Amino acid sequence: MNTDTLNLVETGTLWLPERVNALVAGVDHIFYFLLWSSFIVSAIIIAITIHFLFRYRRTAKTPIGPKHITHNNALEATWTIIPIILVIFIFFWGVNGYIRMMIPPDNAMEIRVTGKKWLWEFKYPQTGITAIGELVVPVNTPIRLVMDSTDVIHSFFLPNFRVKRDVIPNRYTRIWFQADKPGNYQIFCTEYCGDGHSAMLATLRVLSPEDYAKWQTEGSGGDDLPLAELGARLYTSKACNTCHSTDGSIKVGPSWQGLFGSQRQLQSGQSVTADENYIRESMVNPGAKVVQGFQNVMPTYAGSLTDNEINALIEYIKSL
Ligand code: CUA
Repeated sequence: MNTDTLNLVETGTLWLPERVNALVAGVDHIFYFLLWSSFIVSAIIIAITIHFLFRYRRTAKTPIGPKHITHNNALEATWTIIPIILVIFIFFWGVNGYIRMMIPPDNAMEIRVTGKKWLWEFKYPQTGITAIGELVVPVNTPIRLVMDSTDVIHSFFLPNFRVKRDVIPNRYTRIWFQADKPGNYQIFCTEYCGDGHSAMLATLRVLSPEDYAKWQTEGSGGDDLPLAELGARLYTSKACNTCHSTDGSIKVGPSWQGLFGSQRQLQSGQSVTADENYIRESMVNPGAKVVQGFQNVMPTYAGSLTDNEINALIEYIKSL
């Protein structure tokens, strides 16, 4: 990810990052309740243990322990009933918050999310916009995400919004959230999904209604840039950098350095020259010609890149 454009919000507590979704304040309350009640119970148990250690230790005066006690009804009832009341209380508290988190308001704006090894793709049904690695939403608007995966199980996590849900092939899962203020927030994949898992990041950009309207008409911009420059930008914004380096180092996929015009040794035993057609095909149909020593794991970018963007990436690869 390009860190100078990220400007992530980094305030918060030791335990939780800043919350920018007022509707899920309950998550924080229950979290802190569980945290501090665990601390208190642990402290009590440890204190009693240490006290008993000294109180009932074997000494010269008491060579045998005190009389053998089998049970104590009052004590056992107390330490059974109090925790039962506590966990029943926590259960209803949790269910209440869970239901509110799972049911979006009727007017929520729908965005489709697809997890692929290893990128997040966002589709806006209202406008037909497709974005990779960047989810752009207006502030103070309920957003409903309908999510699926094209390969393995991923998990979509927005720490600042306290929402997380598995993203699964062949089934849609949903979450919703609402942003209280504009800013850039981190999106993680929190289900181990293979080599590129730790780099399967995206940014949530929350915009004011005016900026959002502008973004909808102009897109992320860049169409007027020189092609190679636009390509360099797409390299990070479309998450190519997760798997391909530009300095010759080997990641999940081959490096782009010196790629253009070189002879590629394929898994099939054939070889091919890396020209414009080969690179284009490798983006829209990555399984067609897999380079020796690499796995056929790249998702297709067909429908995720415009022709202009494909040209821009080709020009960028040429420049390396
Ligand atoms: Cu996708 Cu981890």
